[in-house]
Amino acid sequence: MESTPSAPRFALIAAGEPVVEDFAREVQAGLGGFPKSLPCRFFYDAEGSRLFEEICKLKEYYIPAAEEEILRKHAGEIAASVPAGAMLVELGSGCAEKTRVLIEALLRRGGALHFVPIDISRSALEGCAARLLALHPALHVSAVCGEYRAGLAHLRRHFQGPKLVLWLGSNIGNFDRGEAAEFLGQVGRALRPDDRVLVGVDLRKDKETLRSAYDDPKGVTARFNRNILSRINRELGGHFDLQKFRHVAYYNESAGRVEMFLVSTAAQRVQIEKLELVVDFKNGEAVHTEDSYKYSPEEIEALAQAGGLRILQAWTDGPERFRSVLLAPA
Ligand code: AVI
Repeated sequence: MESTPSAPRFALIAAGEPVVEDFAREVQAGLGGFPKSLPCRFFYDAEGSRLFEEICKLKEYYIPAAEEEILRKHAGEIAASVPAGAMLVELGSGCAEKTRVLIEALLRRGGALHFVPIDISRSALEGCAARLLALHPALHVSAVCGEYRAGLAHLRRHFQGPKLVLWLGSNIGNFDRGEAAEFLGQVGRALRPDDRVLVGVDLRKDKETLRSAYDDPKGVTARFNRNILSRINRELGGHFDLQKFRHVAYYNESAGRVEMFLVSTAAQRVQIEKLELVVDFKNGEAVHTEDSYKYSPEEIEALAQAGGLRILQAWTDGPERFRSVLLAPA
């Protein structure tokens, strides 16, 4: 992107943004089958993105604070790992404090910065860009609205300079282990030899810490989980009564993942008008809505290797809850 004073500092690019037909198809498949499920990427409409920001402020949800601690300590080193003038790409929306720490470190190094966040939530991208642009006059933002893979394909075609790619906040944890390695491989193939990837990975830990992080006492995560039913009501003419679904978060220790469900508290029949679908729930029947994978240090090494990347540096927060890993093409 040109950085002449007259060039606009913000562009929003649609790259395979999910449309209501995608949501309709996934709801039909997920609620029409057995066991019932809904894909977690549909959590993030405007209300879901707002609720997720609220989760990130909860003391029980330790991920943002743990990652920020690491990034504050090592931002200079991370910025110095890419050539001066490199662009910053972020998979997932990056308005949080931790991204700002890196933006500031790169601005100190290069004077100006081109930031390319890739996210499925248009509202999150717009809100984030507005906040960042107001803070940093030397920043340019090209926000790519789309799913990661479509965003990455757009990146490959249109942004060829040196780059630092961020995949923060344990977003990798919402992929299963095989998909995570496969997607890291895709990221790796979009890189030049001197590009770098910084991935934030949540570490395996005790059950109790995870239980309160994913089932917080204020019930914000429960509202976030149930919002997917509100979204079906709003966008697809669903008739879900949210009071009749209980939020459940369970740590499956052997699989190393937190599993989230919405559990029907009654035998009930729910109509979804736009799908011409009627869904029957048994009392106690669960809809699986999310997996959040946790990694041991050895599993992180295996993941990088499977993705065809090599670990240059890895940093852990004081209480050893979270790890940030700086990767390079192998
Ligand atoms: C976005 N993602 C990394 C969050 C996580 O921890 O898996 C989503 C989330 N689900 C419940 N709380 C937060």
